[in-house]
Amino acid sequence: MAVSSNPDLAVVRTVRELRETVAGWRHAGETIGLVPTMGALHMAHMALVAEARKHADRVIATIFVNPTQFGPDEDFSSYPRREARDIETLRAHGVDLLFAPGGDEMYPAGFETTVNAPGISQGLCGDRRPGHFAGVATIVTKLLLQALPDCAVFGEKDYQQLQVIRRLTLDLDIPVQIIGLPTVREADGLAVSSRNAYLGPADRAAAPKMHAILNDVAKQVRAGEAAATAVAAGHEALAAAGFSPIDYLEVRTAETLLPADQAPAGAPLRVLAAAWLGETRLIDNIPVA
Ligand code: PAF
Repeated sequence: MAVSSNPDLAVVRTVRELRETVAGWRHAGETIGLVPTMGALHMAHMALVAEARKHADRVIATIFVNPTQFGPDEDFSSYPRREARDIETLRAHGVDLLFAPGGDEMYPAGFETTVNAPGISQGLCGDRRPGHFAGVATIVTKLLLQALPDCAVFGEKDYQQLQVIRRLTLDLDIPVQIIGLPTVREADGLAVSSRNAYLGPADRAAAPKMHAILNDVAKQVRAGEAAATAVAAGHEALAAAGFSPIDYLEVRTAETLLPADQAPAGAPLRVLAAAWLGETRLIDNIPVA
């Protein structure tokens, strides 16, 4: 589908302005799709925008680098912020409204509520990044309640995040369709991510091996190999490719993220990994089926 640019992209910074615009669209009988982001937009974000456009008359993108989902030793202060460029990108991709609030708008003085889905947030990235998914769950809940969209689109690259968001919308009866979009990849298989910009040339050359190794693990499990055996081989392959440390490489159930040895018979499975190349932490996942 051809993308038509939107010279009238509205940029709003307050919940009040966001709600006023949404109310006008609702009044006109239009449906709304939401694409939450932290900015530094790239082609994977634009795939989320294109998906939202398929499902809704109006597309809202949000840019907010959410402090509560970063740990004390993580890259909150250095996370790339390129709002002027992002606005041009959103305009070129026909987005109707950008909601780009400041920190005080999202976390005003006295703010103290946290949304947490502790089960699905356990293990995988949840163990390595304590508090991360509570930060994500809290900000996504706020964004959904502020915009009240018909659908919201998230990438499968952050697969545990996607499942946390599905869980919280079910548990809190938030009337929104959560759409997961398959991971957008570079030609060599590397999952597109804002953090790929941190990779030096040697690490960039090694990075696509993570996807290739996930494919090997999935292939072995599909062929009937025990998950533990396939994962052990995958660990060795990641280490040989220069990934260190390896935070995790696991096979889990696709919906509830149970470890493979607790998976009900026939449950769809997913292979998920997080590992470091130099100073850069890469994550990726693929379905087994
Ligand atoms: O995936 C992201 O960019 C962020 O975690 C999200 C969903 C926008 C919440 O801050």
